[in-house]
Amino acid sequence: MAVASDLAFDPWDPAFVADPYPAYAELREQGRVRYFEPTDQWLVAHHADVSALLRDRRLGRTYLHRFSHEEFGRTPPPPEHEPFHTLNDHGMLDLEPPDHTRIRRLVSKAFTPRTVERLRPYVRTLADELVAGLVEAGGGDLLRDVAEPLPVAVIAEMLGIPESDRAPLRPWSADICGMYELNPSEEAAAKAVRASAEFSDYLRDLIAERRKNPGDDLISGLIAAHDEGDRLTEQEMISTCVLLLNAGHEATVNSTVNGWWALFRHPDQLAALRADHSLVPTAVEELMRFDTPLQLFERWVLDEIEIDGQVIPRGAEIAMLFGSANHDPAVFADPSRLDLARRDNPHISFSAGIHYCIGAPLARIELAASMTALLERAPTLRPAAEPVRKPNFVIRGLEGLAVELG
Ligand code: HEM
Repeated sequence: MAVASDLAFDPWDPAFVADPYPAYAELREQGRVRYFEPTDQWLVAHHADVSALLRDRRLGRTYLHRFSHEEFGRTPPPPEHEPFHTLNDHGMLDLEPPDHTRIRRLVSKAFTPRTVERLRPYVRTLADELVAGLVEAGGGDLLRDVAEPLPVAVIAEMLGIPESDRAPLRPWSADICGMYELNPSEEAAAKAVRASAEFSDYLRDLIAERRKNPGDDLISGLIAAHDEGDRLTEQEMISTCVLLLNAGHEATVNSTVNGWWALFRHPDQLAALRADHSLVPTAVEELMRFDTPLQLFERWVLDEIEIDGQVIPRGAEIAMLFGSANHDPAVFADPSRLDLARRDNPHISFSAGIHYCIGAPLARIELAASMTALLERAPTLRPAAEPVRKPNFVIRGLEGLAVELG
């Protein structure tokens, strides 16, 4: 569905999805805020505005802590979508204070930079093993062989998901994530509903089992916190675990393959990185800026705001364009240039404000581990074919990335 409009923004146009960055430049020039009729949202494309709005308490990821659907002028979701909303609405990402604060405080202990730092050697060993397999096979699919199994294993291990149970995690996550695209179809919704119900049932059983036989995993830790002070309801525990499992790998997988595809398209930068592995930390940040893995996040307007003279009333929805903010020349010198040594890089890919990504320190360790393992063990890695881009706009990724050793 192409959208007739004077706006350069068309998230259903494959050409736009393939490279949205030139259109973002036009959008930024057209002003600070624009109404986008097809999704009934206000688009915000400048870094300064996105950054400020993420910290603005007049906006929220939900409105249900203050208003009913009717009071907010919104139609409640259809009853058949209930399993998705029950799951989604009780995870910390879709809660606001005080519930958000209570759950985030409990979970964040497991994700502090110091705690995840202890995982670094384990993540590195895993990355080495996966890359060794790829090299031994003379190539393969970087997504299937390295980018995906690494973060899935790490987050599943942290939560204590037995290895034999891990196969459905990816399909469940992919189906649930379909609901985060703009205007999801009924077919996408049905898939998300089914996956939500199955994933919830699985975790309910696992939580019951861990209650009987606790381990040293995060689920057992959340149960202990729950039983001590009744601080997490069972539904919140299920929703939090699903959120951690999904958020804990989805964007890392995409960042890895988007990043390597960008490297392959910039041979001079890849050569510089291969010559100097100390560039890895800045390269990880720059690749997340350059091809932003999560392109858009939404907020509800809980109390009227004004942007550049435009009043945006309570009940409206704002769509913040992270990919555009990350290419804003007001903040990034020469933003369309990939510069792996870029030092001043306040990209917004992990968000900001109270929902700032809890997994950012872990994601950085994972991205650095796979990059280093690939640089060291596969110094002649190159693409074997042009990858196919996923049609999704919000969650930006590739279907796969065929590679060979040259
Ligand atoms: C490159 C990888 C990743 C990216 C780009 C990313 C990005 C984000 C973003 C943009 C948000 C906030 C969304 C908003 O403001 O509306 C977020 C939240 C979150 N992320 Fe990540 N993430 C990544 C990896 C991870 C990992 C590895 C975990 C593992 C635990 C994780 C767990 C979470 C959780 C639990 C939240 C919700 C935080 C809250 O609502 O307080 N993420 N992430």
